[in-house]
Amino acid sequence: MSRQILVTSALPYANGPIHLGHLVEYIQTDVFARFQRLRGHRVAYLCADDTHGTAIMIRAQKEGRTPEQLIADMAVQHQRDFAAFGMSFDHYGSTNSPANLAIATGIWQRLRERQLVVERSVERLYDPVQKTFLADRFVVGECPRCGAAEQYGDSCEKCGSTYPATELKNPRSVHSGAKPELRPSSQLFVRLEPLQSFLAEWTQKSGALQGEVANYLAGHFLDKPLQDWDVSRPAPYFGFEIPDAKGQFWYVWFDAPIGYIAATKEWCERTGQSLDAWWKNPQCEVVHFLGKDITYFHTLFWPALLHVGGYQLPKRVQIHGFLRVGGEKMSKSKGTFVTAERYLQHLDAEWLRYYYASKLSSKIDDLDFQEDEFVGKVNSDLVGRVVNLASRSARFVEATGLSANYPADGGLFARAAAQSEAIAAAYEACDYREAMRLVMLLADAANEYVEQKQPWTLKKDPAKAQDLQDVCTVVLNLFHQIAVYLQPVLPKLAAKAGALLGSACDRWELVQRPLVGSKVAKFEHLMTRVEADKVKAMFTPEPSAPAVPTLPPKAAAATPSAAAVASAAATPATTAGANDALQKEPLAAEITIDDFQKVDLRVALVVAAEAVPEAKKLLRLTLSLGSGPTRNVFAGIKSAYEPAKLVGRLVVMVANLAPRQMKFGLSEGMVIAAGTDGEVFLLSPDLGAKPGQRLH
Ligand code: MSP
Ligand code: ZN
Repeated sequence: MSRQILVTSALPYANGPIHLGHLVEYIQTDVFARFQRLRGHRVAYLCADDTHGTAIMIRAQKEGRTPEQLIADMAVQHQRDFAAFGMSFDHYGSTNSPANLAIATGIWQRLRERQLVVERSVERLYDPVQKTFLADRFVVGECPRCGAAEQYGDSCEKCGSTYPATELKNPRSVHSGAKPELRPSSQLFVRLEPLQSFLAEWTQKSGALQGEVANYLAGHFLDKPLQDWDVSRPAPYFGFEIPDAKGQFWYVWFDAPIGYIAATKEWCERTGQSLDAWWKNPQCEVVHFLGKDITYFHTLFWPALLHVGGYQLPKRVQIHGFLRVGGEKMSKSKGTFVTAERYLQHLDAEWLRYYYASKLSSKIDDLDFQEDEFVGKVNSDLVGRVVNLASRSARFVEATGLSANYPADGGLFARAAAQSEAIAAAYEACDYREAMRLVMLLADAANEYVEQKQPWTLKKDPAKAQDLQDVCTVVLNLFHQIAVYLQPVLPKLAAKAGALLGSACDRWELVQRPLVGSKVAKFEHLMTRVEADKVKAMFTPEPSAPAVPTLPPKAAAATPSAAAVASAAATPATTAGANDALQKEPLAAEITIDDFQKVDLRVALVVAAEAVPEAKKLLRLTLSLGSGPTRNVFAGIKSAYEPAKLVGRLVVMVANLAPRQMKFGLSEGMVIAAGTDGEVFLLSPDLGAKPGQRLH
């Protein structure tokens, strides 16, 4: 039966770049979302930037710009990184959006109606140098319970206890290093005690939580009356001002998870669906993925808000551990704090997807990045065991295609097909390590077959041509099954396998039916080996670059190189060609400046691009205008541009064109290009232009 599943990853803070630690989560979630789609379920994968709070405000101040400018830049960078790692979000929003304000306001009203909001004056820590109240995370000191040094103002990483920031010993402000003072501030609280029995029931009995999480909550929180939750912050604060409490702002953690619903709302509005069908529908399974550090926000406060707001509670909260590198915490000075961007300068995104998948279980254990293991898994599993199947057989059947009937294979294909449910169950449980183990066993069996049959020896004897075709048909079919099983983890590899065999690896059931009689495309290499030196280079600390806002590097790279510009200058475009174009398409009737002003042309960043398989000419582009929802645009440029090469470059779009429903989806704008059909040329702004800028 087809299920309806809404999947989320925690919303990354807009005050920093995406790094290898984040990617544990986003890759884990994306594999889940892709797996469910592959199984034929209806999936919405949603995420957004988490934009509010003191950190953003202070950083923007330091950089001499507004928080809005900062978060717009970060939205572009985050989406660029996510696209490069293959995240298949259906929508990527921002918590600083009208949709989020609207939903937060609605939930707030329900809290008020139920008398769950109370006001009290509290003593709050104040940074006398920065002249701002200090959020919990901006005070560090010694844990009041166990004395561990360098702990944040909300909880201790050593002993796991939580406490008010005012109880930290020897506190200091993270921003200025000054000793914070206590100042009275009037604050709003959400009372959780009236919801205690609901939360006890939900956390312990719903089955939504991993056992260890349920036990942790029972032992640390639910064993005593739940404390009121402090949800307001005094100005100055970058966030939403509370509609019925002027001068007070919602604490970032109040509106952050509401961003899950807001992102869904934007997506529903964009695609003509009903929000309630996703968030107020018991048939819809809401699945949250997040790291262990933000457990209690998602397992106590968030269900409380959903419950009071009348929304669907999560069916499942899947919590993972933290990434360590070589057994230690990631560290900037040791070079082990690696951003997504830095990773991509050295290594291939799919390698990391596989590496993490091969290590992730459904437990909360930390995950350790080990260089040797990474190199070993990529080279021996992916290249040695999987890709090799195709590289040792495809060339021999380029001319003949696959055999017309599926040959006897000693039961190999049937055995691999019979593993389907075991592998699916492992994916479903988020035990990807087990799923990868099962698939690699299939690869081993296939490789043994290749060794036994030695297609390269058969090739030498013309009398064995039929044997050769049969053997390669078997091997390529086993390879195809493996590619389907791995599609959630390695979508690019699966797409290439699909192109090679003329059968997209886009449905789980495909593992049940052998491909016969079909053509085999010319073999192109599917994946390269990783060189250990490159992994080393990635982890070598660099002199740190100045923290200035920069143009997304890929956008920069997509502008013409100096050499290209020089050679263009040496051979100027001939005017003959231009005249010809003018004749083919004479100038349009004169317009006024007002006519022109109606067309809103904007610089846009391509955050994702893919071919529309059903359309000969179309690519589907996901464009970012720097902030706000991304746009889905179909462009007739398939013949001239390879989708992967477009990601990260800037284009010009008509941003106020009425959306148009097409067979393949909604088109929300138009990309500007010169020429027609085979001869199309996209326009790029010069270096320095920013997504969202209007063309005048
Ligand atoms: N903004 C909050 C989440 C709000 S959700 C309504 C936040 N942001 S974060 O950028 O710090 O982290 C985003 C996610 O990445 C979190 O689930 C966090 O646990 C995860 N990770 C961040 N660093 C990580 C590692 N080093 N290792 C594994 N996951 C990590 O928290
Ligand atoms: Zn402690």
